[in-house]
Parts: sequence; structure tokens; C-alpha cells
Amino acid sequence: QRINWDVQAAQKGGYRHFMLKEIFEQPQVITDCLAGRMDRKHNRVTLTELEALPTPSRLHIMACGTSYHAGLWGKYVLESLARIPVNVEIASEFRYKELVEEPGTLYLSISQSGETADTLAGQRMVRQKGLPVLGLCNVVGSSVAREADSVLYTQAGPEISVASTKAMCSQLVMLYLLGLYWGQNRGTLSAREMSQNLLTLETLPQTLTSQLPDMQKRARQLCPEYSRARSFFFLGRGIYYPLALEGALKLKEISYIHAQGYPAGELKHGPIALIEQELPTFALAMQNHLLDKIGSNLMEVRARNGKIIALTNPGVELDIDEKWEIPQLGDPLNSFLALPALQLFAYEMAVYLGKDVDQPRNLAKSVTVE
Ligand code: G6P
Repeated sequence: QRINWDVQAAQKGGYRHFMLKEIFEQPQVITDCLAGRMDRKHNRVTLTELEALPTPSRLHIMACGTSYHAGLWGKYVLESLARIPVNVEIASEFRYKELVEEPGTLYLSISQSGETADTLAGQRMVRQKGLPVLGLCNVVGSSVAREADSVLYTQAGPEISVASTKAMCSQLVMLYLLGLYWGQNRGTLSAREMSQNLLTLETLPQTLTSQLPDMQKRARQLCPEYSRARSFFFLGRGIYYPLALEGALKLKEISYIHAQGYPAGELKHGPIALIEQELPTFALAMQNHLLDKIGSNLMEVRARNGKIIALTNPGVELDIDEKWEIPQLGDPLNSFLALPALQLFAYEMAVYLGKDVDQPRNLAKSVTVE
């Protein structure tokens, strides 16, 4: 008897698309990124790749696309944990600017593929001046990795879907570890804070595994109503602002619905003019010190008949259309649940609309030309 099978279907491991498989791989990605890097006995983070580099007094991140959003998230986390000022720039802008040298600055290139032309060009410009570059890459032996002074590898495994998902998750884990590592070197974190951070990181994969199936169902429920929208706002504050940018990017990339990510506080400086019933808002409204602030931004949206989906935590009271609750893990850990929720929302919308999820039109996995 002849058995019919195809390699692609086998590689998808039972999932309908590579993107969905990669979203569901994120708990394992977190485990792999943490392996060998957390010393729970001594409450320390070990990053042997960084031992030859001095602890920087400033960090300058360059990246494109989803990796740029990871960098923006990293800014909040590194500044808070390690108290290191961080500048984040889109590599295609950075590479053509005059470099302002500041002593003690370390340059960080973030690139899943390690082959993005603009990121590589930015890194080459920095290295030509004799300044130090750290690479944060997923592909081993890639150009960014080979040309950097030191490289930290994310352990996401091969990412096939053009829309990046698990790679960003791995970048966030590594940026978090960097914050803890430099925080411990600079003495900005107490032993108790270190221990709490490590403990919650350790339990994260299990929590995420248990949440993913429900998240997918919740995302699917929203499709009939919201897939008719021609445009979306994604709003967040603090660490959820870069995630709002990423949620909007994912939706654009694969469902072709226009979307814009905004820091919620900027809404009143122009974009609010667009709010009406046909332009829904997806808000990241987690239980934290900024909840009241984003709550009042959402009231402004409501007052203009804008529909609102809010990703939030149990017990949060908001006057909105759709409440999407995820467990409260605190900041920045909630990001690791919010990110897959946004990815699944974009994924389910694209599937509902019959789009080619893994190979969206006009996009390439790795942009090696300008
Ligand atoms: C392309 C991909 C994006 C990716 C960006 C940066 O545009 O479609 O998903 O985020 O490049 O890629 P990199 O490999 O440098 O992270």
C-alpha cells in the first residue's frame, strides 16, 4: 500500500500553518532561552558570551521590523532593571546618520535572520569606528553574528513563517536576561528582586502552555465581528506600547487590514479625530500603575462610539465591548502572554479572511537588499 504524505505537512507537525505551529512553540522557546542561563542556587544570571565585554553605561539598539519592536520593549526593561539608558533606532535610519560617539556605549544589533541589509550596514558603520557591537541573532553563523564583537543567540529554532512570532518571544527573553545580568553587575537589583524575577521566569513556559488553546479560541470568536473593519488602532502604554506596535504590524502583514500602533497618551494629539464606529481599538490594558491612564484614554474612544477590545487581567473594570482576560503575572511578565494573544488575533483574522498566512503578499522573510 502506498502512503501519501508531503514534507511540508509533516514539518507543520499537525498545525494548519507554520505560523500557528511557531506561536505554539513559544513555551519551549522560552525554556530553551533560559537553559543554562539561570543559576537559581545563587540567584544569578549567567551569560558567558558577555564576559569579555565591559558592562555598558549606555546601550544603542539598531533593528528592523519585529526586531525593532523587541528593541523598544527592551528599552523599558533594561532601563528599569539595570538603570542603563537605552536608545533604539530603526536601522535604515541609523545607518545614514552621523554617529554621535558617547564613551561607554555598547551597540546592540537585533536580527532574527542576522542578514537584514540595513541592520548589517548600521553595525558595519559602528565597527568601522572601532566601537563595540553585540549581536542578538537567531541564525547561527549569520552575517550579523559573525561580524559582531560578541553574539548572544536566541534559541527560537528555525522560523519558517514570514511573519515573525517565536523569534520575537526569544528576543524578549534575552533582553530580559540582559537586564537582569547587567542589573546584577551594576548592583541595581536586590537579592529578593533577583530571586522573584528568576522564579517567575522559570514558571512562565508552563503558564503559557496552559493559556494558548483558550487564547486561540478567544481570538477566533472575535473574527466575525471585527474582520469587517478596514482599519484598527492598537493602544498601549509603557512596555505595552511596543507590543501595540507589534500587534498592529502582525495584523497588517497577514490580514492586510490597516492598523496603527500608538502610545495611548498620544491619541488626543491627532489620531482621535479618526475614531468612529467603523474603526475599532485593540487596547492593552494590564493591571499596573498605568491602568487608570489607559482607562481614561479608552473612555475617550468610547465617547466617540469607537468599539474596543481590551486585553486585560481578571478583576479589571473597563467599560468596553470585548474583555479578553489573561492571568495577571505582573510586569514585564504579562508581555509573554500579551504577545501570543496579539499574534493569535492576527492569525485568526487572516485565516477567517482566507489569506495566505505563511506567505503574505509582497513580504520576504529576510530583507537582504535595501
Ligand atoms: C522582514 C521580515 C520581518 C522581520 C524584519 C527584520 O521584514 O518580514 O518579519 O521582523 O525583516 O528581520 P530580522 O531578521 O533582521 O529580525
